[in-house]
Amino acid sequence: MNVLLLGGSPSAPSTTWRLQQLVGARLAALGHRTNALQVRDLPAQALLRADTSDPAIAEAVALVHEADAIVVGTPVYKASFSGVLKVFLDLLPQDGLAGKLVLPLATGGSQSHMLALDYALRPVLASLAPRHILPSIYATAAQLPWDPDKGVLPVSVIGARIDAGVEQLAHELEGALLRKAAGSLSALAPASATLHA
Ligand SMILES: Cc1cc2nc3c(=O)[nH]c(=O)nc-3n(C[C@H](O)[C@H](O)[C@H](O)COP(=O)(O)O)c2cc1C
Repeated sequence: MNVLLLGGSPSAPSTTWRLQQLVGARLAALGHRTNALQVRDLPAQALLRADTSDPAIAEAVALVHEADAIVVGTPVYKASFSGVLKVFLDLLPQDGLAGKLVLPLATGGSQSHMLALDYALRPVLASLAPRHILPSIYATAAQLPWDPDKGVLPVSVIGARIDAGVEQLAHELEGALLRKAAGSLSALAPASATLHA
């Protein structure tokens, strides 16, 4: 299945993106195809003007449209999710996440704003009509130490949350695959009925 990593941090390097890449690598190891979209790489003026005729913006919206699941990541900024991510979500159509699974991730400077994903980002995602928003994963930057050789090395409590999140998303993607297969079969049924008539 097709998984999009949607990065909402304006920073590079980004702790949030490292967490997303870790989740993406785990899903890729399970056989899912992953694509990456960093909102900060989109043309700023077209983004701010919600100019969906701009080729880069149109391509980004198409990546969202084609995804079966979206792993959306944001740093906590001012007790909420990033403005960079909001600007992008605002230019999606009203049902821009229809039928999709969504796994929200965030990193913050402390535990104080760990609910920001649930009180700020989750309602915005829900307004875009996804099939299901999975439980969020939140980590502080200190819980995601970086090793230049080994990459990000989550502390054990975060490692366990990542395991649970990946497992749940993979399970739901299997269900989505079965639904797709059933849909394709039922679309074929009238044709085969005609053949046998
Ligand atoms: C402008 C700004 C505002 C921030 N506001 C908060 C905040 O309200 N609460 C918090 O826990 N961390 C806050 N932080 C810390 C970041 O959320 C944290 O460093 C995060 O891991 C950065 O992720 P990134 O490297 O992916 O951008 C803020 C950082 C910046 C630069």
